[in-house]
Amino acid sequence: MRFLAESGIRQFLDIGSGLPTQGNVHEIAHQVAPGARVVYVDVEPVVLTHGRALLAGTPEVTVIQGDARRIEEILDDAEVRRLIDFDRPVAVLMLAMLHFIGDGDDPHGIVARVREAMAPGSHLAVSHVTGDFDTDSRVRDAGAVYEKATYQITLRGRSDVARFFDGFELVEPGLTTLSLWRPDSDSGVPANAERQWCYAGVGRKVD
Ligand SMILES: C[S@@+](CC[C@H](N)C(=O)[O-])C[C@H]1O[C@@H](n2cnc3c(N)ncnc32)[C@H](O)[C@@H]1O
Repeated sequence: MRFLAESGIRQFLDIGSGLPTQGNVHEIAHQVAPGARVVYVDVEPVVLTHGRALLAGTPEVTVIQGDARRIEEILDDAEVRRLIDFDRPVAVLMLAMLHFIGDGDDPHGIVARVREAMAPGSHLAVSHVTGDFDTDSRVRDAGAVYEKATYQITLRGRSDVARFFDGFELVEPGLTTLSLWRPDSDSGVPANAERQWCYAGVGRKVD
C-alpha cells in the first residue's frame, strides 16, 4: 500500500478486503495522501457491517458487498463508480483472495476483465497461497481445513500465479514470496522466506 500510494495512486479497489483490522488500506493510503479514495469489497455480509461502522464519517472510503466471481457487478456498482474513476490510474488489490476462487470460476478471466477496465498507469496487487515449497505438507493440510468451509482453497504454483499479471509489467522485485516483497525495514525477514507459503507481486498496466 505504501508503495502504491507513494507511486501516486489515489484510488484503491480492495476486493476480498476481509474484516477491518489495524493498518487498513485507507489508513495507510491516507498517511501518504489524505483524501485518497478507497472502496472495500467483500462477499461476506459481516465485513459490510463492521466496515460501515468503522468508516462512518469518512465519505471518501466505502465498503460494498460483492462477489469477485461476478466481477462485472463490482465494476458497475454505483458506489464503486462514485469513488473510482476508471479513466484514471487505480490500484486493485486482490490480496489473499484469489485462492478462494476455483479454476472452474476462471480467476484468470476475472483478473483479465479487471485489467481491461483499468487506465494505463493502474496497478494490480496480488498475494496468493502456494504449495510450491510444501515439502512437509503443512500448507496442504491447512488448505484441507477449508474443505468443509464456505470457500475452498486452491493452491497455485508460481506459473499460475504469474499468469495473473499477463498484460502487466511486474514492478521490482517481481513475483516473490510474501515476506520478500519490499519488506519494511523494521519488520525483518523470517527464516526461509524464499520458501514461504504465499506469493506476492504488483503489476503496472503500461498501455
Ligand atoms: C484471507 S482474507 C484476506 C483479507 C485481506 N485481503 C488481507 O489480505 O488481509 C480473504 C477474504 O476474501 C473474501 N472472499 C472470498 N471469496 C470472495 C469472492 N468471491 N469475492 C469477494 N471476496 C471474497 C473472504 O470473505 C475474506 O474476507
